[in-house]
Amino acid sequence: MTTTADQSLWLTALPAQPRPPLTGQHTFDVAVVGGGITGLTTALLLKRRGLRVVVLEAGRVASGVSGNNTAKVTALQATVYSQIRSRHGLGAATDYATASVAAVAQVAELVRSENIDCDLRRSPAVTYAYAEDEVRDVDHELITARQVGLPVRSGTTDVDLPFPVHAAIRLDDQIALHPVKYLLGLAGAVDGDGSLVYENSRVVEVKGTSVHTEGGRVDASQVVIATHFPMLDRGLYFARLELTRAYCVAARVKNPTQALAISTGSPSWSVSAYGDQLILAGQSHSTGKPVVEPYRRLEDFARQHWQVEEITHRWSAQDPTAYDHLPMIGGYTPGSDTLFTATGYMKWGLTSGTFAASLLADLVTGKPNDLAARFSPHRMSLKSLPDLVKKNAEVAVQMVGDRVMPAAATSSEDLRPGQGHVVRDGAGKTGVYRDAEGTLHGVSLRCTHLGCLVRFNAAEHSWDCPCHGSRFDVDGTVLEGPATRPLQRKKPR
Ligand SMILES: Cc1cc2nc3c(=O)[nH]c(=O)nc-3n(C[C@H](O)[C@H](O)[C@H](O)COP(=O)(O)OP(=O)(O)OC[C@H]3O[C@@H](n4cnc5c(N)ncnc54)[C@H](O)[C@@H]3O)c2cc1C
Ligand code: FES
Repeated sequence: MTTTADQSLWLTALPAQPRPPLTGQHTFDVAVVGGGITGLTTALLLKRRGLRVVVLEAGRVASGVSGNNTAKVTALQATVYSQIRSRHGLGAATDYATASVAAVAQVAELVRSENIDCDLRRSPAVTYAYAEDEVRDVDHELITARQVGLPVRSGTTDVDLPFPVHAAIRLDDQIALHPVKYLLGLAGAVDGDGSLVYENSRVVEVKGTSVHTEGGRVDASQVVIATHFPMLDRGLYFARLELTRAYCVAARVKNPTQALAISTGSPSWSVSAYGDQLILAGQSHSTGKPVVEPYRRLEDFARQHWQVEEITHRWSAQDPTAYDHLPMIGGYTPGSDTLFTATGYMKWGLTSGTFAASLLADLVTGKPNDLAARFSPHRMSLKSLPDLVKKNAEVAVQMVGDRVMPAAATSSEDLRPGQGHVVRDGAGKTGVYRDAEGTLHGVSLRCTHLGCLVRFNAAEHSWDCPCHGSRFDVDGTVLEGPATRPLQRKKPR
């Protein structure tokens, strides 16, 4: 991979030696595709119910978004309750709160019962107003959070941040942990008694309930697709999910804070901590849309408020949000009782991926669950339909975009190392990138998912699609789906 961001703070904990890949044909009760928090938690809960479960992970366990986040496991999530309430009513916001509180408790229970060494610590979570015009949103969230039953407190004095805030609410006893160590612990607990986790086993096809990797096949009674963005080309998930990318830096600071805090404005400043390291995240944008020096802006903010000794890590990741702002958890297609999925966590999937796993475990084993209809991927959210129509109209515009997208240049001569741009190429255009050694790489701008035009992401040195969030390396390799095929390589001009 040639993208530039350093590895996340968490991924350095991965053992050097990967688990073996799947080879040959095997039979399990349930095949789980994806070794992130959703897949591993689901697998473990199913194993606890007596099923033989296999997890097939394309790369390394925890190497997806679950190993690239700010590591807060909390039921207080910025302004999530006000947002859900405005779209779905108080009942839905209450269900989300109930599920989130249960998920925080579930993570603590799994750490304890499986004896997972993941540096878990308890801490208050805080939603704060960094600027005065954010106070209204914080006040709204306070009211809604109380209505859904969360024991939140308000007050600006007790937030453990090195700058004054205009308003804040706080929920005590939430969790910060090392997410990769946690996931490695879950994977270890899945192994044994007929269940197993494989790494470097990318699933390339699911036929009925037969799951195929390049090296082997699993026949199962049921399949859970826990690939973050649902990987199968059915169910029209791409039309109902929007990907938002965000950036993180970790810094060693002289004045560490332990806060798990997030501001409500735009930009939003998300603060977390690991030992003496500050973790700062933000600069969110829809994937494929322009972003200006996100790492520099985060580092400037860190230096403005903390005594930074060294910026140690930079990373970024993206997470999907459903058009109606509720996670999607359930049958992959309407009525399916053999193929399931979960997605749409709005950047709070350490919590919601955990409650998704509980719900999936019930669905797989046929146990009634009151939340099944609420989070069904196939619910109809009338209030949010205009958003769905608007999003897909924007996608339609992108699909004819090559006629309107300007080329930056007629040749690549002026490109400096690390730069990419669009070059006119006869009647069409080519995406060209010059790497650190000076070599040019050319790719077609046509996304292999549904044909929108990819844009260069200067922070990550990747070609990102504004339609459904696929990302490609500068040589065209797929970094993130829904696309599964690389960009066509072209001779750079
Ligand atoms: C910047 C940022 C900060 C965040 N911070 C927080 C936070 O503080 N708290 C919080 O609760 N949430 C946070 N989140 C969100 C959270 O990290 C995610 O919602 C959650 O980790 C998603 O988990 P997952 O299991 O669905 O996906 P992933 O962790 O991405 O796991 C999916 C796995 O599937 C694998 N896979 C994909 N395709 C295939 C295939 N074909 N075959 C086999 N395997 C495949 C991938 O390799 C990957 O390992 C943050 C998100 C971002 C972007
Ligand atoms: S067209 Fe769908 S991700 Fe690019």
